[in-house]
Amino acid sequence: MKRRNWAIVALAAVIAAGAAGFAAYDADTGTQEGQTLKIGLFAYRGDDTFISNLNNSFRDLVNASEKEQSKNIYLSIQEAGMSQATQNSQIERAIALGYKILCVNLVDRTSAAYVIDQAMEADVPIIFYNREPVQADMRKWDKVFYVGTDATMNGVLEGRIAANACKASPESMDLNNDGIIQYIMIEGEFRHQDAILRTEGSIQAMQEAGIAVEKLDGGVANWERSQGAALAKEFFAKYGSQIELFICNNDDMALGVIDYVDSENLNFTNIVGIDGTPQGLDAVAKGKMLGTVVIDYETQAQLMYDLVRRQLSGEAPEDFEDRYARAPMRVVERERRVAAKPGLPERSFENMEK
Ligand code: GAL
Repeated sequence: MKRRNWAIVALAAVIAAGAAGFAAYDADTGTQEGQTLKIGLFAYRGDDTFISNLNNSFRDLVNASEKEQSKNIYLSIQEAGMSQATQNSQIERAIALGYKILCVNLVDRTSAAYVIDQAMEADVPIIFYNREPVQADMRKWDKVFYVGTDATMNGVLEGRIAANACKASPESMDLNNDGIIQYIMIEGEFRHQDAILRTEGSIQAMQEAGIAVEKLDGGVANWERSQGAALAKEFFAKYGSQIELFICNNDDMALGVIDYVDSENLNFTNIVGIDGTPQGLDAVAKGKMLGTVVIDYETQAQLMYDLVRRQLSGEAPEDFEDRYARAPMRVVERERRVAAKPGLPERSFENMEK
């Protein structure tokens, strides 16, 4: 997992905002020419690969508007080190300091109510992203939004990658030839909606594709590569060649499984992931995993940026349905030009984007 050195208090970029992007907000926010408009981006932690990519894209979008500057924007990116209490204080402080809009990647998705109450009192719109609050909280106020992805569909597409691979060459996956795929599930995080829905979606898709599956075991690796590797070590020690497939809720954990496989020179590539991080895509291209579901973090950042701009200028949101927007996704899987020989790695296959 890529480490980012975000300052806990504030890694802030004072950015000149584009006239095109933020032209009309004066009337709504009272921001005068020459004053600084403060936007806060609050991440649940600072070392999550996918969230770092998304936050960097958002920062780039704000930076890009610099060209047509007419206002100063102070974008503060803060990370909470997995503590909701820390995030709550960061948000309270931002509100006290006059931030005009808050983008929040909650630590605990069930704790949105407190954050919403604070924002509502100060009339500061709030855009939750990636970690989806429960619906009852989302309904509390009409200036609360959510930007994310369709987690069930992430899982369904992941399951289809595994199902396609199995159909294309059953002997490369059903290693014991019993007509059932024995799998290990590596889950992202306890109680995280993406983890729950992806897990269900992937299995459901395999079953719908007519593949019989049996769960050998599973564990939570907190979206982390090193924890994925640790679980792979544990499960290979326990089940050895009984394992026919690793289904991972994200790419970093799949890469952890690959790290272990590589460290032991194991002959195993039946691994699927989600996110489409550069490292995940590289692993697919190198034939080290079957495929990944690319979640379009750039589009998610764009949806957030557009909404920020619209909220600040009093325009109605676009691309949101009932205050929710979900970014598209696509599948990248290893092409199967050559039938696999049982148990052999499929190094000769090329990567294929769909
Ligand atoms: C998921 C993403 C994971 C991790 C997680 C954090 O959507 O796939 O890699 O970033 O969010 O909430």
